[in-house]
Amino acid sequence: MSLSEQLDLPAIAAAAASLAAGSLVAFPTETVYGLGADAENPAAVARIYEAKGRPSDHPVIVHVAPAAQQLVDAFWPGPLTLIVRRAAHIPDAVSGGQDTVGLRCPSHPVAIALLKAFKGGQGGVAAPSANKFGNVSPTTAQHVRDEFDAELASGLLADVLDGGQSAVGIESTIVDLSRLATHGPVLLRPGHISSEQIAAVIGSLPAPPDAAAPRASGTLESHYAPHTPVAMQHTAELGETLNSLLNAGRRVALIHYSDMPPASASMRLSCEPDQYAHALYASLRTMDQVGAELILVEAPPSDAAWLGVNDRLRRAAFGSSGIIEQFLAQ
Ligand code: TXA
Ligand code: MG
Repeated sequence: MSLSEQLDLPAIAAAAASLAAGSLVAFPTETVYGLGADAENPAAVARIYEAKGRPSDHPVIVHVAPAAQQLVDAFWPGPLTLIVRRAAHIPDAVSGGQDTVGLRCPSHPVAIALLKAFKGGQGGVAAPSANKFGNVSPTTAQHVRDEFDAELASGLLADVLDGGQSAVGIESTIVDLSRLATHGPVLLRPGHISSEQIAAVIGSLPAPPDAAAPRASGTLESHYAPHTPVAMQHTAELGETLNSLLNAGRRVALIHYSDMPPASASMRLSCEPDQYAHALYASLRTMDQVGAELILVEAPPSDAAWLGVNDRLRRAAFGSSGIIEQFLAQ
């Protein structure tokens, strides 16, 4: 889809009006689709939690039009969320009861047009990823419609703006700046913008989260998970494991990037991390629908460029440990 096709200005104006009226609107960003509500309207933000089935103590990121800082200048608009101390008028619901707020200025042209149209570019749109709590994030408008078909029918979700497939494919990098004086910048969620890129701008690597760092639900052990169990295997063992499972009569969906024998269903992704991230969630959603008992994933390399992808896969596979042994033992 070309940029001019994406910018359906009357549709964007209508979506901005829906947001201003307190309705939910799903919209594309360069990372994943967001489920948006007026950040300054507590009743509107409450609808996000209702639609997603999300616990109320999980804060949501506020999306803002391109504005104002070192990191902001270097990476906005783009896939970087900054956690800062919140102003008094930011509702508790946005902050999940914490004293901070997450801010992000997305680079997708439809998201930018929507944020500029909403309250004349002066508002903020609270938007988590447009999926039910704990599920795989959506990277197409169809994913959002599939996930929220009941909410679209009931009107709880007013509109889904279509902006094609999200380019990045995994959620934004989150850096906590709320405790700079005591802890320096802290990496809460790895993403497309790497710690090395951040260090190149601010002079030091963001620290890993300490016990007192702000909570981020994307850092729960289990998240981003399809309904089918997910198991990871290193390249060297994968072929043998796959054959044993298939010989044991198991229906196995395979997501791989090296040469591998055929499975019940297979999807081959790129061996380049950015392209892999771009395709990851769509492939998890597809493999969730082929009737497999297990989604077997070839573990990506462990170097820094794969940090965001490995983080998401680890959480998708959490809770399925031991499942291969279990399947082979039966
Ligand atoms: O790429 C993205 O960031 C996407 C698109 C739609 O912008 N949004 C997204 O939102 O991934 P969500 O809600 O699915 O994940 C945001 C994460 C959650 O883990 C939340 O707990 C954390 O950010 N978060 C939000 N505000 C926070 C805050 N004030 N302090 C700590 N963590 C925060
Ligand atoms: Mg999410």
